[in-house]
Amino acid sequence: MPITQAPPILVFENVTRLFDLRRGFFGERQTLVAVAGVSFTLRRGESLGLVGESGCGKSTLGRLACGLLSPSSGRTLFDGRPLPEAGAGSWASGRIQMIFQDPSSSLNPRRRAYSSIAEPLAARNSSRAERREKTEAMLEAVGLKGMGNRYPHEFSGGQRQRIAVARALVTHPDVVVCDEPVSSLDASVQAQILNLLRDVQERFAPAYLFISHDMAVVGFMCERVLVMYLGQIVEDAPRDALFTKAAHPYSQALLDSAPGGRWKKEFPPLLAGEPPSPLAPPPGCPFHPRCPKAAAICRTEAPAWKETSPGQRARCHRL
Ligand SMILES: Nc1ncnc2c1ncn2[C@@H]1O[C@H](COP(=O)(O)OP(=O)(O)OP(=O)(O)O)[C@@H](O)[C@H]1O
Ligand SMILES: [Mg+2]
Repeated sequence: MPITQAPPILVFENVTRLFDLRRGFFGERQTLVAVAGVSFTLRRGESLGLVGESGCGKSTLGRLACGLLSPSSGRTLFDGRPLPEAGAGSWASGRIQMIFQDPSSSLNPRRRAYSSIAEPLAARNSSRAERREKTEAMLEAVGLKGMGNRYPHEFSGGQRQRIAVARALVTHPDVVVCDEPVSSLDASVQAQILNLLRDVQERFAPAYLFISHDMAVVGFMCERVLVMYLGQIVEDAPRDALFTKAAHPYSQALLDSAPGGRWKKEFPPLLAGEPPSPLAPPPGCPFHPRCPKAAAICRTEAPAWKETSPGQRARCHRL
């Protein structure tokens, strides 16, 4: 069955997440809009990428997707039911897992690899025999057979990320949220971990929500990509469509400024300058202050979604 027809596993319905900030002890309260009205569907077994500049809300969206944060408004549905808060004991426990950027801080330094990997199984009340069998199988799947007795500091950075992958997949989750899983690794180890993630996806069939600021990494891993800008999804496109005919000016700018992207000599990098503050998002289209195609309407009216080719849609007045 093609992925585009697989049943939905994770659905965001108009999800907004605000953070309350206060300047100083008696200072005025401010509200930061980290995720603004995001809707999308992740299908079973799909690899969905999420790209965008630093601070645009990718990690916040990832934390919402695994129940580590709850929406301020809107709904997150997992397998058709409202996603409960993450934690042992919930019905979704072990069915959504997360892999973080820095394996050193996501693994307990005082736990041997074996017990770190087995921990999510313990939270699901698996029997001792089942835990042993599944943990050994995962150690082997990530290429660390026989090394389960070591502590995290006795591994290299790449090996530590392998442990994090094993830990995330040991419960055979439906969804794995990967937040910049290779950004802290050097290029050759990056390739090993990405290949491992693809390999384990073939074997265990989780859906990935794969967060990265690196277009090349997302292009390698994902068949569909969401482009995020200032808390909003501005384009949702199959990988090949995005890479050959990106619709939104922001997606085009991201590709043009990516090292492996289509660098055009005649255009200066469009992404010079800082994005606006999420404390005071601009009215209209959030990208208009930096957009080379901005017109009067872009300053006042938020653009609606437009389909530009089958499966590809973007929010831009100038399409
Ligand atoms: N717990 C929090 N409290 C207050 N503000 C937060 C919190 N978490 C995130 N933010 C703010 O929300 C916005 C989005 O942050 P987020 O970490 O989601 O961005 P990101 O896209 O993952 O960035 P990066 O690529 O640098 O990891 C930022 O402006 C950030 O400062
Ligand atoms: Mg982040």
